[in-house]
This record gives sequence, structure tokens and C-alpha cells, in this order.
Amino acid sequence: MATEPSLAFYQSRVLLVLIATELVERRTVALARALSLEEASVHDLQLAFRQNKLTSRQLTKFYLYRIRRLNPLLRGVIEVNPDALRQADRADRERERKAKPYGLLPVLHGIPILLKDNIATKDKMNTTAGSFALLGSVVPRDAGVVARLRSAGAVLLGKASLSEWAHYRFSGARNGWCARSGQGKNPYNLSADPWGSSSGSAISVAANMGTVSLGTETNGSILGPSGSNSVVGIKPTVGLTSRSGIIPLAPRQDTVGPMCRTVADAVNVLNVIVGFDPYDAEATREASQYIPRGGYNQFLKAGGLRGKRLGIARNLYYSRSGSLVANAFESHLNTLREQGAVLLDHLELANLNEIYFDSGEDLAMSAEFKLALNTYLRDLVVSPVRSLADVIEFNNKHKHLEKMDEFGQDLFLAAQATNGINKAVKSAWQNMDRLSRDGFEKLMRQNELDALVTPGHLISGVLAIGGFPGISVPAGYDEKGVPFGICFGGLRGSEPTLIEIAYGFEQATKIRGPPSFMQG
Ligand SMILES: *[C@@H]1O[C@H](CO)[C@@H](O)[C@H](O)[C@H]1NC(C)=O
Ligand SMILES: *[C@@H]1O[C@H](CO)[C@@H](O)[C@H](O)[C@H]1NC(C)=O
Ligand SMILES: *[C@@H]1O[C@H](CO)[C@@H](O)[C@H](O)[C@H]1NC(C)=O
Repeated sequence: MATEPSLAFYQSRVLLVLIATELVERRTVALARALSLEEASVHDLQLAFRQNKLTSRQLTKFYLYRIRRLNPLLRGVIEVNPDALRQADRADRERERKAKPYGLLPVLHGIPILLKDNIATKDKMNTTAGSFALLGSVVPRDAGVVARLRSAGAVLLGKASLSEWAHYRFSGARNGWCARSGQGKNPYNLSADPWGSSSGSAISVAANMGTVSLGTETNGSILGPSGSNSVVGIKPTVGLTSRSGIIPLAPRQDTVGPMCRTVADAVNVLNVIVGFDPYDAEATREASQYIPRGGYNQFLKAGGLRGKRLGIARNLYYSRSGSLVANAFESHLNTLREQGAVLLDHLELANLNEIYFDSGEDLAMSAEFKLALNTYLRDLVVSPVRSLADVIEFNNKHKHLEKMDEFGQDLFLAAQATNGINKAVKSAWQNMDRLSRDGFEKLMRQNELDALVTPGHLISGVLAIGGFPGISVPAGYDEKGVPFGICFGGLRGSEPTLIEIAYGFEQATKIRGPPSFMQG
């Protein structure tokens, strides 16, 4: 019997790799515990960087480890960036060089961010909206918001999953499902709805698989999943953030925004991604007027709720009165009052039925989608599909790639049947403008409101048709452990005020907690 361990045994390559990985992971976990990287904010992390307690490489490794561990269950991430560690190393080197004379680095420098998979990156990652149809396509350039993130030194950690094609392929499709990564799961209750379409962005930051993330919204896609996964989502005024390089849905309503664990983190991301972009010139030029000098951080202030006039339109609410969610909401209204806000209750939002069921939004979106998507596909450097018609054909041929109970593409087919921006579409646009003017805008102006408040994201359809901004903040957990949010919506360009309100509410309540991964 050998008394010494056999050398041959240790030389087994596979085992060595396993041991090495295990050691690295154990070290990563130990470090993560020591620094409590879980739930760490951008501010905490920058402090740890500056005090030489943490490197961007260590942080990136921590998230890569979490993704390996948790993503097979949660499916919030479609792919990780093979260059993430290289980007982290570069950030670490830059910090070392600049730290000597205390050079100021951008706030997202060295911070790992996940991007919804409809946001183009010109690198080794794919940009596919969750669909196999776009796998292997090559984009002409980074999306406008990605270019800004890169120059701010952020680490592009990976692509987040989503409801495929931002939930615009199949009306019966389940929230959080896409062909490439399957069903995204709500980390608080694995059988609960994660919402969509920016489901992966919300799931991933909720479960600490990244520091911050970006989502997109056309009609509820940031505000909805933010609420259901207990994160903060900012849906910016349309045009405040560039849509260039975003796989489009309807340019009249599309917008890109942060999804993060805290209001402050979301604001730090917002600061970086807003502004003019020649590739989305008209909308970003027009909305640039709203960007405050000195950025948005100045609105993260204690007492932000003092004197704010908040409207409550109960015709916009759940009918589930008496439920835990409804009760929590009433108690939040008291909190808002206690923090100095003036509540104007029982307001009536006009045209609500028309806004939700008969605004013409369906038709307009359908026509816009076909045109915008065809332009996006045509501009790709390489692509297996060049038009919506190609995508429809691809789906028909590749049903076998989809592990879904039901196959469908009714929204695609309806869009394909439209023919441009005709009279009917223009009159739908006019109708939506009128509904906003006589509904939301009138209510806000007549009552001199700073924001309209709703439980969950009931307000998102109202905000969508007018390009208005909104913020969702964690507001509680229901009987099944499923999170819900509270939304604050305002007029175009009112982000500063909404941030004050959202931050005030968050600081007064501090409801968010990390997920429990409860099985159904
Ligand atoms: C992008 O897709 C290709 C398949 O076309 C795959 O080989 C590659 O690994 C993907 N990239 C990443 C970063 O996962
Ligand atoms: C937008 O969202 C609202 C509220 O969720 C919904 O009633 C409406 O049908 C949606 N519009 C479209 C075109 O999907
Ligand atoms: C999770 O949600 C499901 C579906 O809504 C529900 O049936 C289940 O009881 C919930 N789990 C827990 C632990 O509450």
C-alpha cells in the first residue's frame, strides 16, 4: 500500500482543473462574504475599489461564479461576455494609474453590467432578442447606450434573457420565455410570473448575478418585471436614452433604462446612458433639453418627498381591494404623507378604457414594428435574416428548436400584413396624443401634480402612449412571497422629480431583500 499519494493521481489533468476551479471559487466566495458583495451597491463597490479591498477582476469573477451556480435554475442570463475579465483587468490597471494623483474615474468604471439581449454590442457576444433567428448576426456598431457604457469603463458582463422579441412575437407567449434560454424564473418564487419583457435584467440583478442592468420598455417592459422581481426600474422619457442599436419594437414608444437593486444605482446608470446620439438624432436631441446640469445624483436627497404633490386615480387600480397588496399600498400612502408629500386622492383619469382597449396602439405598434425591424435587419453587417418575412419563415422552419408548449407568431403575422405608416396609423398616433393630452397631461397639470402613483405597474400603459417616464420601486411581497412594486409616473422630462420621490420612498421603507428561491 502506498503511503505517499500517487503522483499519477494528482497529475490527472481533469482533477487538477477541478481542484483549481474549486479553490478559486472558494476564495471568491470567501472574499464575497468578507466584503458582502451580495447586495453591494455601486457606491459600496467604488469605495472598496478605492480602498484597495477589491478589484474589478474579483468582482467580475464573483458574478461569473454566481451565474454558473444560479443561472441554470433562473435563466436570467443568455450568455456571458468572454472578454469580461479582460475588461475588468483594464479597469483595474486604469484605476491603479489614476489613483496616484487621485484622478476621478467615472462612477461605473469597473462595474459589471448586464444588457438585455435586444441591445447591440459589437464584440464576441450575440444580440438576438432571445431568438435563434439572429444567432450569428453581426451588428454594425455598439448601441448608443453601450458606447457610453464602454467609454465610462463599465464591464459588459453579459446579455440578459427576455420575453422573446420583447414579447412581440406571440400574444400567448409566457413572460420571460425565449427560445435561446428557455423560461426565466422569478427568484422569489420559482413558479411565479417574472413578468417581461425585460425579465432577465430584473431576475439577474435581483439574484446578484450582476451589479446593475439595462432593460427596454415599449409598454410596461421595465416597470413590470422590476416590480415582480423586487428591483428598481427607471423607464426614461422616450428619447432621453438613445435607441440606436436596439432591436426595435415601436420607436414612438421604445426607451432604454436601468434596472438595479437601488434607486441610487439606477440613477448612476441613468447618468451614463442619457444624451444625444447622432444615430437616434431627432429624439435624443429633443429630449436632451431635459438633462439637468450636474446630472441626476443631486436628486438623491433625504426629504425628497417633502411638498411633493402625488395623485391617486383609483379608477387605475386593482379591483383586489382588501388583499395584502392593496393593504400594503394603503399603508404606503400613509408613509408618503408622513414623509411630507401632499396626496390628492380619488382623482379620475379620463379615457382610461379607451387608453387600454381602444387607443389604436395595437395597429400603430404593428406597423411601426415591421418598418423599424426591417431597417434594423437590413443594417446588420451579417445576418441569417434580413426582414420580418425572413424571421417568420425561420420560425416556421425551426419549431423543433423551441421547447415551448405552444408555438405561435400571431403578432409577427399581423405586423407583416401592415403596409407602412398609412392614414389609419397616423390617425392612431393622433388619437393617442389626444388621449394623453385630455387624460394624463390634463390631470397632472390641473392638479399641479409631481407624479401619479399606482400599485404595481398599472400606470405603464398610460405612460407608454405618451412617451412619459416612470419609476418602479420595491413595495412588498404578497402571500406567495412574490414581490410587487409601486410606480411613480410623470410628464416628459420629469425624471429629477420622480427620482426625488422614488428615493424618498425607498429610504423611508427599505423593502427590498435578496431572493429566497422558493420552490412552488
Ligand atoms: C454567439 O453565438 C455563437 C453561435 O453562432 C456561439 O458560438 C458563441 O459562443 C456565442 N457567443 C457567446 C459569447 O456566447
Ligand atoms: C399596453 O399595455 C396595456 C396595459 O398593460 C394594455 O392594456 C395594452 O393592450 C397594451 N398595448 C399593446 C399594444 O400591447
Ligand atoms: C409560489 O407561487 C405559486 C404560484 O403562484 C404558489 O402556488 C405557491 O404557493 C407559491 N409558493 C410559496 C412558497 O408561497
